[in-house]
Amino acid sequence: MPGFLILLDPHGRRHAVALDGVTAKVPGLGTFDVARLRASVGRKLSVGGRSFLVLEPTPQDYRAALDREAQTLAPKDLASLLFESDVVPGARVLEAGAGSGALTVALARHVGPGGRVVSYDLREDFLAVARRNVERLGLADRVELRLGDVRAGVPEKDLDAVLLDLPDPWAAVPAAWDALRACGALATFSPNMEQVKETVGAIRGRPFVDLRTVELIEREMEVRDVGVRPSFAALGHTGYLTFARKVLDTF
Ligand SMILES: C[S@@+](CC[C@H](N)C(=O)[O-])C[C@H]1O[C@@H](n2cnc3c(N)ncnc32)[C@H](O)[C@@H]1O
Repeated sequence: MPGFLILLDPHGRRHAVALDGVTAKVPGLGTFDVARLRASVGRKLSVGGRSFLVLEPTPQDYRAALDREAQTLAPKDLASLLFESDVVPGARVLEAGAGSGALTVALARHVGPGGRVVSYDLREDFLAVARRNVERLGLADRVELRLGDVRAGVPEKDLDAVLLDLPDPWAAVPAAWDALRACGALATFSPNMEQVKETVGAIRGRPFVDLRTVELIEREMEVRDVGVRPSFAALGHTGYLTFARKVLDTF
């Protein structure tokens, strides 16, 4: 059972309810009995004359529940980072920087209780926000948040994946290569093409294979009786994703 549930009201509004006590107070809605909430997953619950559907949180709900300081990654980019880096249950992964912890939380959910996420950031204030988010979402058992500059190298070794979302990922490529196991995955996210060029140059300077860069375009569709068309509220540019895998030899 996740650390929180969602109450969906008839108007489509979603209210997050933490499950860490006997009762849970939700501003504007009232106080709920946590055992009753847990027993009502997937069902309608009526409280004080109002009805809700009780839902398990989706990945979007986890992201929406974050306190934010730094810019967070969009769901389309998070999904691709997890897939391309092959982040599976039990994996040991490193990321930098932690920022608000959107990627930290996604990684922690995918590696599961048997995996490990080490997340670095240069700034204690960002680490505090990420720590608060990770703890509130019940994922602290598998996450280690560390103050440090990942470009200077890290003590972690034989990692399954290293994911970099920082202004100069190219400067951390040597440290990433050292920390990865053979065939471990490197992934970087950068908003600008100039950053991609520098990063790809640094990756080409080391034994890596399967190097490629993509940009993901997402268009939400509005399915209406009067016509189906893309939403006017399109998600604009987010960034470019670069992937590679470490090898030990070159031709
Ligand atoms: C855009 S934010 C990361 C957002 C995060 N991926 C998320 O989705 O919430 C970039 C972060 O990288 C951190 N950072 C920048 N350079 C760094 C470095 N060399 N080592 C560790 N962290 C760094 C910054 O302090 C900032 O918090």
